[in-house]
Parts: sequence; C-alpha cells; structure tokens
Amino acid sequence: MSAVFHFQDWLSEHSERTELALDRLLDSAQTTPSRLHEAMRYAAQGGGKRIRPLLVYAAGHLGNNHQHFQAFDSAAVAIECIHAYSLVHDDLPCMDDDDFRRGRPTVHKAFDEATALLVGDALQTRAFEMLANADCDANSRLRMIRALASASGSRGMAGGQAIDLYSVGKKMDLAGLQQMHAMKTGALLSRAAELGGIVANLNATQMLQLHQYSTALGLAFQIVDDILDATVDSQTLGKTAGKDAAANKPTYVTLLGLDYAQKQAKELQETAIGSLDGFGEKAQALKELALLVVNRGK
Ligand code: IPE
Ligand code: IPE
Ligand code: MG
Ligand code: MG
Ligand code: MG
Repeated sequence: MSAVFHFQDWLSEHSERTELALDRLLDSAQTTPSRLHEAMRYAAQGGGKRIRPLLVYAAGHLGNNHQHFQAFDSAAVAIECIHAYSLVHDDLPCMDDDDFRRGRPTVHKAFDEATALLVGDALQTRAFEMLANADCDANSRLRMIRALASASGSRGMAGGQAIDLYSVGKKMDLAGLQQMHAMKTGALLSRAAELGGIVANLNATQMLQLHQYSTALGLAFQIVDDILDATVDSQTLGKTAGKDAAANKPTYVTLLGLDYAQKQAKELQETAIGSLDGFGEKAQALKELALLVVNRGK
C-alpha cells in the first residue's frame, strides 16, 4: 500500500474488483440448469455491501506477499457465496419469512421456494470448489477450506441460525445472545479477514492479532444489524425493517436497549482497531472498514 492511503479510492477499487470476480467465478446464467444458475447469480449479484470480500482484500494488505492476486479473488467470492446462501435461506418462509432483500424480491419470491433451497445448497458447495481451485499453495487452500467450513457449519453460522430460530419468544441472557451473534454472523465475518491473512501468508502472531480484530468486528456487525432493524426504514435498509421486534427475536436492542447496544458496538469497534496497532499503516484499510461497519446507517 502506498504511504498516502485514500480509503474512498480503495473502497471503490475493491468493490468493483469484487463485482468483477463474482461475475467471473460464478457459472453463467446459461449453464444447465439455467433457472438454477440464473437464481444463483440473482442471489449473489446485484446489491450487498460486500463487507466480507472487502475484509479479505484488506487483510491481504497486512502481508508482504503480493503474489496470488487471483487467490484473493477466490477467497473473496467464496465467502460472499456462503454469505449470499445464508441470506437466501434466512429469508425463506420457514426461517425469517422475508420478501425483500437488497432492495428487491427475495429469491423464493423472484423464483420459487425449491429453487431458493437449491440456490443455497449450490452456492455453498461452489464456494468450497473455488477455494480448492485457488491459485496458491496446497496448504493455504486446505487451511482456507477448513476455516470456511467450520465458520459456516453447526459450530458457526448454521448453528447460530439454529439458536436464533429456537430462541423466538424466549428470554435470553447477555452471554447467550453474544454467543448466538458470534456464531450466526461473527464467525463468517471473522473468517473473511482470516482467509485474506492465510493467502497473505501471515505468521501465527499476526493471525492472532487479525483474529482479535475480526472477532470483535464480527460481533459489532450483528449488533449494528439489530440497531438498524429497529431504527431505519425498509427502503434505506433494502430489507424489511422492524422484523426482529415483530418476530419476537431476542436482539441487543430488545434485550438491552438502543443506548447500550450502541455503546457495545462502539467499544467493540475500538477493540478491533486497537488489535491492529502492531501492523502500522498496512492496517489502514481494515481500520477504516471497522469504522464503516459500526457507523453505517448514521
Ligand atoms: C446481513 O448481512 C445479514 C447479517 C449477517 C447481519 P449484510 O448486512 O452484510 O448484508 P448485505 O450483504 O450487505 O446485503
Ligand atoms: C442473519 O441475521 C444472519 C445470517 C446468518 C443470514 P438476520 O436475520 O438478522 O439478518 P437480516 O436482518 O435478515 O439480514
Ligand atoms: Mg435471521
Ligand atoms: Mg433475517
Ligand atoms: Mg437482522
């Protein structure tokens, strides 16, 4: 990274890079069966803040290894595919039952429920295929596959989603809520940064610092999502606002109130940023992303 760092330029460059990589790595909409491939593209393209791919690229700047340009793209798109799949399933009638996502009809509304189910299945397996084919050494590929698998499954995102569904209408204490958030959202967000760290070939100490950053940011991310659900309108959010209270979900806002939730998010943001002090200016993109995540919607 150059001495003078302009975050806005970095952000537009890497947002565009994400869109191009998605377009390149996803199968074309004409691939048989075309309805499924069209729906996969609908789910993964056309909207989204792309925070997870941006974290992959930003973490990549921490190392001195500027080879493996394409492997960063594979990691960025793989994690976005898992995320997109989690949203498609999260919106299904048997889960949050949402009609509106990223400013347009959800996949099961634009297509049908069975297709939405298959889109999730197929995006998930495609993600691991991308990592297996990534243009880096075999050990890094294996580490990425292991990291993404554990963050996506029953000890990560899917497990957190299960806790979320089982908790509807129930009382939850702060420790339980924190665990649910860390699993359903934090795990994948945190793993995004770590995938970038793996491709960049960071050492164990650096990976630990990155892990501290991304764990704090992952939890902050879902707390902010809870705050926005309670405070911002659907049009601005691009998804149905007020769902958590309507569905009787325990969230940081419903359990502890808006002020406490905001304070927690800010503290986690500071913890995240502080964890990167040892990296100097190489961490500027990650630090700016932490500010962006916590201040979004303000
Ligand atoms: C929404 O994630 C679901 C959560 C895990 C909180 P994002 O807020 O990253 O959604 P997009 O990708 O920008 O649509
Ligand atoms: C979803 O949490 C987390 C996922 C793993 C998809 P939410 O249910 O709060 O996400 P939104 O608000 O629908 O995006
Ligand atoms: Mg949900
Ligand atoms: Mg939801
Ligand atoms: Mg939400």
